Amino acid sequence: MRFEGKVVIITGAAQGIGRACVRRFAREGAFVVIADLDEAPGKELEEEIKSAGGAALYVHVDAAERLDVHNMLAATLDAYERVDVLVNNVGIDMVGDFLEFEEADFDRVLRVNLKSAFLCSQAVARHMVDQIESEGGARHDEAGYAIINMSSVSAITASGNNVAYATSKAGLNQLTRAMAIALAPHGIRVNAIAPGKISTDAVKKATVDLETREAILTRTPLGRVGSPDEIASIAAFLASEDAAYMTGQCLYAEGGRLALNYTMNKSAKD
Ligand SMILES: NC(=O)c1ccc[n+]([C@@H]2O[C@H](COP(=O)([O-])OP(=O)(O)OC[C@H]3O[C@@H](n4cnc5c(N)ncnc54)[C@H](O)[C@@H]3O)[C@@H](O)[C@H]2O)c1
Repeated sequence: MRFEGKVVIITGAAQGIGRACVRRFAREGAFVVIADLDEAPGKELEEEIKSAGGAALYVHVDAAERLDVHNMLAATLDAYERVDVLVNNVGIDMVGDFLEFEEADFDRVLRVNLKSAFLCSQAVARHMVDQIESEGGARHDEAGYAIINMSSVSAITASGNNVAYATSKAGLNQLTRAMAIALAPHGIRVNAIAPGKISTDAVKKATVDLETREAILTRTPLGRVGSPDEIASIAAFLASEDAAYMTGQCLYAEGGRLALNYTMNKSAKD
């Protein structure tokens, strides 16, 4: 039980990759805060974790709203009295041709994908710093405290119709590095995970379409989409003792996509 007694806040945790992270950290002994806008699946997940003998708390939060973030932290401290790990997982995607893309949509994506990570990290890190001081100061020889940002391969790759999303994820990678440097003296590590296509409900629906599935597979050397559990296991690694000497990094989990400079020949692979 790597996370026995640790408190982990996960934003955008009611479904998809966030939900898999909740289950993973809870299974490994953590008290998990499920921070999400969507109450019904959030509460359902809380019940699921509790009936399996774990500890979880659903908190309704807009992760890009300062007051909500403040309340999320207060609810966490009320319930568990500390916080050890923050996973900034919340994210939305809006596609649209660059020439037509609305300013309001650009703002919305940047707000949810990038500003939320700034707000949540700053609020939680301020508390972590106080906690660290009260525990006798920074320990640089152990996993300590961790912040993990959910980035994307879109931080590197781009297309004409995902301008806001790609920009937000590239910003998130740079926020990861800047926060890693700012928080290193306190013993707080900050890293990111950049998934390729992951089989969340939305992706499962989209890949029912043969053309979409082919488009994904021809750019994925491993020949399949990833699972939310495969991303959750990287989050658990980054939060654990095994990653104690890692900070400021982004780990890409994308089936080999970024190494590819041609498309996969489907018939050769089959
Ligand atoms: N699924 C993929 O293929 C994929 C690939 C690369 C990166 N990612 C990234 O991984 C993260 C999770 O993706 P997913 O596919 O699991 O997402 P998802 O859409 O399945 O779930 C996102 C969750 O975030 C919640 N949410 C949305 N806005 C919120 C807000 N302002 N405050 C609080 N909660 C909010 C939603 O209610 C939902 O529960 C995102 O940052 C996404 O960009 C996903």
